[in-house]
Amino acid sequence: MKKSRSKILIIDFGSQYTQLIARKIRESKVYCEIYPFNSPLDKIKDFNADGIILSGGPSSVYDKDAPVVSKEIFKLEVPFLGICYGMQIMAHLLGGEVMPAKNREYGHSNLKIIKESKLFKGCGKSSRVWMSHGDIIVKIPHSFTVTAQTETCDAASFESREKKMYGLQFHPEVIHTACGTTILNNFLFDIAKVKGDWELNDFISGKVGEIKEAVSGKMAICALSGGVDSTVAAVLTNLAIKDRLKCIFVDNGLLRETEANSVMKYYRENLNLHVKLVNASGLFLKELKGVADPERKRKIIGKLFIKIFEKEAEKIKGVNFLVQGTLYPDVIESVKVFGASSIIKSHHNVGGLPKKLNLKLIEPLRELFKDEVRIIGKNIGVPDEIIKRQPFPGPGLAIRIIGEVDKRRLDVLRKADAIVTEEIKKAGLYDKVWQSFPVLVPVKTVGVMGDKRSYESLIALRAVTSADGMTADFAKLDYDILRTCSSRIISEIKGINRVVYDITSKPPSTIEWE
Ligand code: XMP
Repeated sequence: MKKSRSKILIIDFGSQYTQLIARKIRESKVYCEIYPFNSPLDKIKDFNADGIILSGGPSSVYDKDAPVVSKEIFKLEVPFLGICYGMQIMAHLLGGEVMPAKNREYGHSNLKIIKESKLFKGCGKSSRVWMSHGDIIVKIPHSFTVTAQTETCDAASFESREKKMYGLQFHPEVIHTACGTTILNNFLFDIAKVKGDWELNDFISGKVGEIKEAVSGKMAICALSGGVDSTVAAVLTNLAIKDRLKCIFVDNGLLRETEANSVMKYYRENLNLHVKLVNASGLFLKELKGVADPERKRKIIGKLFIKIFEKEAEKIKGVNFLVQGTLYPDVIESVKVFGASSIIKSHHNVGGLPKKLNLKLIEPLRELFKDEVRIIGKNIGVPDEIIKRQPFPGPGLAIRIIGEVDKRRLDVLRKADAIVTEEIKKAGLYDKVWQSFPVLVPVKTVGVMGDKRSYESLIALRAVTSADGMTADFAKLDYDILRTCSSRIISEIKGINRVVYDITSKPPSTIEWE
């Protein structure tokens, strides 16, 4: 069967780096997808990959419940690259032997290349690599050769050139592995012989054509949130079906200062979207009255949003499709090696599917990572103000006010947010940090202002750096920026007499306070 483009398949064994492998491969302009390790072999065959990568994972191959693939997979005549656990499972299934190491190897190691290999072309004789493993391969499979070692690992890489099977005990996908990108590219272009033909501009024209055909003269609706995903999804759809796309922007009163008006201006003037602004602030405030529990706030806001969206959508006659900005990380089936994980926060995204409407879904970004969505957005004219916006949670400022939400508290927080955002932008840090925002803590503390005792609320500043929001580090902001934010907040906002800076990372804290 002739394929339209090159494709790599990544089999996920639960590594925290699996998505990173995929992003790296896409950066090299090669299309790839991630399947869980327990995907049926037929599904894997049908994908028709040019190469298969077996990811790392936290298990040991000899564990009772270790994630495994069928040995049959190795009969597929494509090149394989096993990374860490992926290499161990390869060894285990092909007749080698894996055992617990005397010492866990975690962090930097010096890799010595002891045998010439296509995989290491351009890497020199030794190189710094990133290791994270507790097991080692003590016997490699028959007809394989060890090609590199570290001080503590005799088989840091192996291969069977003839079978086109390669294994790496270290992680080429992480930035700490000096020639990681070279190694991955060698696998892609020299071994799997793929073409770098994943072009985002081709994606745009292909997707526009697909949407046009799918909608074929009917109508679609889309809930816009002001964020990059829903905006790019709407603009792509708009390119396909023009004014047969109707958008709805619900102002829930939990947005930041001037946010509703400014995004509406971009939507209408820069992006020519047909969008209706629904001001529902009063309704949201009414339902949130007296509610202090974070999860209840989320549920109320999520439910009410859907109710309002459904009501608005019903007013538009002849709608058959719903456009959503779902991204690839939302659709990858996650591999749970440690059993069911507990719910920490019930995140809901604006645009959660209103079931009552019985609409067909259009999800033009389903195959994309966030950085790809940003590039596409830029190419189709979405302004930087939307593309580079820091993530903002669906429940908005409601989860940045600890305890009950009311209009007065929202106004205080909005003012503080405007100050923090202005100062962070002025310092050139807005797109260097992942998020930066104030949190209103309505706990009163004593202060002294103009010789008088004050007894007022607290603002906490939170700024974090992060790659994906899953883990985060508090941003080491300059004291001068913190001082300016603090003094402006206290002098410009009535009711606040103390500002503190949150110096916890995630984990153990989360990014949002609620
Ligand atoms: P946490 O607080 O869980 O946040 O560390 C991780 C990322 O998710 C965002 N966040 C939310 N987004 N609805 C959303 O759409 C939510 O309820 C929600 N809670 C947190 C948060 O801003 C951060 O980027």
